Amino acid sequence: MTADVLMLENVSKSYRTVGKWQYGHHHEVLAVRNVSLCVQYGEIYGLIGESGSGKSTLARLIVALEQPTSGSVLIDGVNIAEMKPIAVRSMRREMQIVFQDPYSALDPSQTVEAAIEEPLLNLTADSKARRMQRILELLHEVGLPERLARAYPHQLSGGERQRVCIARALAPHPRLLVCDEPVSALDKSIQAQILNLLRDLQRDQGLAYLFISHDLAVINHLCTRVAVMLRGRIVEEGDRLQVLLHGAHPYTRCLIEAAAYFAGNGVLPRLTPSASKAPENGCIFHDRCLHAQARCRRETPSLRELMPGHRVACHFPLSDVRDGSS
Ligand SMILES: Nc1ncnc2c1ncn2[C@@H]1O[C@H](COP(=O)(O)OP(=O)(O)OP(=O)(O)O)[C@@H](O)[C@H]1O
Ligand SMILES: [Mg+2]
Repeated sequence: MTADVLMLENVSKSYRTVGKWQYGHHHEVLAVRNVSLCVQYGEIYGLIGESGSGKSTLARLIVALEQPTSGSVLIDGVNIAEMKPIAVRSMRREMQIVFQDPYSALDPSQTVEAAIEEPLLNLTADSKARRMQRILELLHEVGLPERLARAYPHQLSGGERQRVCIARALAPHPRLLVCDEPVSALDKSIQAQILNLLRDLQRDQGLAYLFISHDLAVINHLCTRVAVMLRGRIVEEGDRLQVLLHGAHPYTRCLIEAAAYFAGNGVLPRLTPSASKAPENGCIFHDRCLHAQARCRRETPSLRELMPGHRVACHFPLSDVRDGSS
């Protein structure tokens, strides 16, 4: 068995969409481009990046809700595409996902008990008595009172609903939890409670997370390693402090400066919005980068190691943020 619970090798995903006004005219969206990453047992791996950069698409590829156009997703070293149906069923137990919106993630006609029982029915061979016992255990684990077992989603607060979604995801004893912005829809005090719950679960049960968030403070609070996604590509990856304190990609630096600005420090970075189409040639950030040079327009930079474990896809990575030079 490898130390990696999850490995992505050159994973790409494109969608074909039909043009609204031009019938028969197809448009291709390259949502994820050549992404390679590993998540180890028990680690919290953060994924940040602007809206539309492909984070949720990557999350859906990992839990096999979608198939990659090319490349491989390996769970415990085994390619999902080559798994036999029985292995896919057991793999589905091990990879669970918590979505951003706890309002739409639950069926309004199902009680909390039924929502948590569903994955137990589908993915385990537990008896009715064992399922009921497990539901009570899960309610306790996520800090919900037993009386809510018979409640419907409309009778719950947003934080309670997200706890139900987490209990449901934990039900089949997964080893990897993919969290796609699980706290974005919640207010700050509930956010903190859910983040602490996720951290405690990781510590007590040795779960690994792939944790997606827009919020650098949340990523900083929770993650051990971090990757930055932009226009479908990973442009930087490293330990939490390598990326969040010493980010070397100009785009990562914009994210850090924007977070500092909103926390009351520094100035808002100059970053033009992403055009709908990424440049065909060269670096995917060159049309928005203040440091771009001729080579950036010509040549696509590969993700290369700056320091052990710290990888950056930039021809001219910025030097340490602390000395203020670039
Ligand atoms: N089913 C689909 N069909 C066509 N295009 C899609 C589909 N799903 C995603 N896309 C496109 O793929 C790109 C990446 O979308 P994705 O939802 O993965 O981004 P994201 O990083 O999760 O954004 P956000 O932070 O806003 O949630 C976007 O351009 C989106 O429009
Ligand atoms: Mg998303």
